[in-house]
Amino acid sequence: MQAIELKGHGAPEVLQLGQRPDPVPGAGELLIRVMASGVNRPDVLQRKGFYAPPPGASDLPGLEVAGTVVAGDAAAMAVAGLSLGQRVCALVSGGGYADLCVAPVGQTLPVPAGLSDIEAASLPETFFTVWSNVFDRAGLKAGETLLIQGGSSGIGVTAIQLAKAMGATVIVTAGSADKCQACLALGADFAIDYKQSDFAAEALRLTGGKGVDVVLDMVAGDYVAREVSCLAEDGRLVIIAVQGGVGASFDASLVLRRRLVITGSTLRPRSVGFKTAIARSLTDKVWPLLAAGRIRPVIHTVLPAAEAAAAHRLMESNQHIGKIVLSWQV
Ligand SMILES: NC(=O)c1ccc[n+]([C@@H]2O[C@H](COP(=O)([O-])OP(=O)(O)OC[C@H]3O[C@@H](n4cnc5c(N)ncnc54)[C@H](OP(=O)(O)O)[C@@H]3O)[C@@H](O)[C@H]2O)c1
Repeated sequence: MQAIELKGHGAPEVLQLGQRPDPVPGAGELLIRVMASGVNRPDVLQRKGFYAPPPGASDLPGLEVAGTVVAGDAAAMAVAGLSLGQRVCALVSGGGYADLCVAPVGQTLPVPAGLSDIEAASLPETFFTVWSNVFDRAGLKAGETLLIQGGSSGIGVTAIQLAKAMGATVIVTAGSADKCQACLALGADFAIDYKQSDFAAEALRLTGGKGVDVVLDMVAGDYVAREVSCLAEDGRLVIIAVQGGVGASFDASLVLRRRLVITGSTLRPRSVGFKTAIARSLTDKVWPLLAAGRIRPVIHTVLPAAEAAAAHRLMESNQHIGKIVLSWQV
């Protein structure tokens, strides 16, 4: 197969097109002829040497793919209602930057009706992550308010649309007026340019002093103190990345006085069983919304897979709004 290999760790140029033996699906797995591979910030961290694949995962980067099923465990596929020749997308723990990819059957979903392979490849990583953290861990409910840091990120555009579809009020932060506008166009109720104003003061003002019920944080560092300060009673802070640093100092008395929960997670090392359960929730509650066009993929740029280095440069430039996708279609 063709694959984008990591020739060491460092600048985007370490991503190079090469040849690898075709992967073989084992028990509970299927093989996908990949048409498109999603690009995510964790791929950038892996390229730089800060995010090693979990034990047993492919050393190739790439956490999500879309394409056609070409082989697999027939019994497992029958139970999951998947078949040879079907168009699918899948969450994988590595190996997505290749034109063949093995995926666990339980982490593979049909392409939602009406979506292209490019669009489908943009879904798994952010939809699994947002569902798991915002709804399962933080328990966001209809009528509550969610503050999303980085609203224009791949994660952010998914979180905005899912939270709105589930009946929440959404406040986002973003680093420019254009990005704020894009978040509002996707359905966010309020957008705060975090470079122009203090998001915690704004969140308190926008909620009439009550505070927000849930914060989805991809910054951490000195954001944690401000997030704790603008959480409502029984509020939940869920940390999914530490772009702003790992150390945090905050007023711990607020945690007890307001009964706050501070939590977080990383998806990649979790078990197939855990991810399969998320896939079932997405199939039941979210895929129908995608098929109906109530939630839509947000694709910023599509590049040929051989230009993976350019895709990473684009992501690190922070110019994008939504997702960057690699295409294997010639
Ligand atoms: N825990 C997990 O399981 C998991 C899974 C997937 C992704 N992640 C993490 O989630 C984050 C988003 O991933 P992605 O693939 O969607 O990446 P992405 O599209 O590149 O987004 C990165 C975002 O971080 C925002 N950001 C950086 N500094 C900020 C700050 N000080 N305040 C507010 N926003 C800030 C950027 O916003 P501006 O451009 O507006 O500055 C940008 O939108 C990454 O950190 C990634 O590692 C975690």
